[in-house]
Amino acid sequence: MRLMRISLDGQRALVTGGARGIGAATAGALRACGAEVIVVDRLGDAPVDVADPQALEDAFARAGALDVVVANAGATLFRRLDEMVDEDWRRLLDINLTGAFHTVRLAARVMKPRRRGAIVLAASTNSFDGEADLAAYNATKAGLLGILRTASNELGPWGIRVNAVCPGLIRTDLTAGHFAQPQLLKDYCRHIPLGRGGAPEEVALAIVFLASPLASYITGATLLVDGGQMAAKFGIWDERMGRFAGDHWELADPPSTTA
Ligand SMILES: NC(=O)c1ccc[n+]([C@@H]2O[C@H](COP(=O)([O-])OP(=O)(O)OC[C@H]3O[C@@H](n4cnc5c(N)ncnc54)[C@H](O)[C@@H]3O)[C@@H](O)[C@H]2O)c1
Repeated sequence: MRLMRISLDGQRALVTGGARGIGAATAGALRACGAEVIVVDRLGDAPVDVADPQALEDAFARAGALDVVVANAGATLFRRLDEMVDEDWRRLLDINLTGAFHTVRLAARVMKPRRRGAIVLAASTNSFDGEADLAAYNATKAGLLGILRTASNELGPWGIRVNAVCPGLIRTDLTAGHFAQPQLLKDYCRHIPLGRGGAPEEVALAIVFLASPLASYITGATLLVDGGQMAAKFGIWDERMGRFAGDHWELADPPSTTA
């Protein structure tokens, strides 16, 4: 059995959307495992919009050989289905879906000649459900699973693995609105068995695992990182069993610490 530690020493990784949130945590975690990390983001000194194919291609050309690519850049948009205008729909698809497709395509072109590599997509629990007011977001996140499965199928023979994380509610700028509304957060967390939102680092660790040699026989997989939310059809927390302590649910009577 190999030693159970993740080493990415000598590897080069590129993370889109790596300036903040889950992407920044992922860049940090990859570096902590020894990888050299290139961040591609519309924020920062060398802004790159993943919705701009030429800018993305230039960024990959500058990056050179890559062992790991994380297609994480994403945005969201709350609109009623019947109030969505075409421009909003197109912009979100350009970033979340076409941007990710271009990222995977460029990663494949860089990795195929080397016959190795790992690609991780940031999908979502919204890849599987129909959360209201998020038609464009949900469509992009469901669409990512089509890219995931096709890419893992096509690229497997070249030794390239392609996987996706599917985060639930994670505390980042993207979800700041949820965390700023105590009642909404309380009700949302009723549906999360672990009783709380997640931290970006908790998703980053799942991404690093999937990108690492520890996941050497995993490709085409979706890994939920959602505190159990998708397993909980009707939710679990209510006032009969616990209380909401600011940002998480806890049992009313914590188990005794004495045996
Ligand atoms: N936070 C959550 O609860 C959650 C849940 C499920 C999935 N996700 C997904 O995880 C990914 C990261 O989300 P986050 O919560 O860290 O969001 P975030 O808003 O904190 O960070 C997103 C990053 O992507 C960058 N970005 C956005 N649009 C870009 C573009 N057009 N070109 C280049 N960079 C761009 C931003 O500048 C930012 O650095 C997204 O794909 C998101 O859909 C997040």
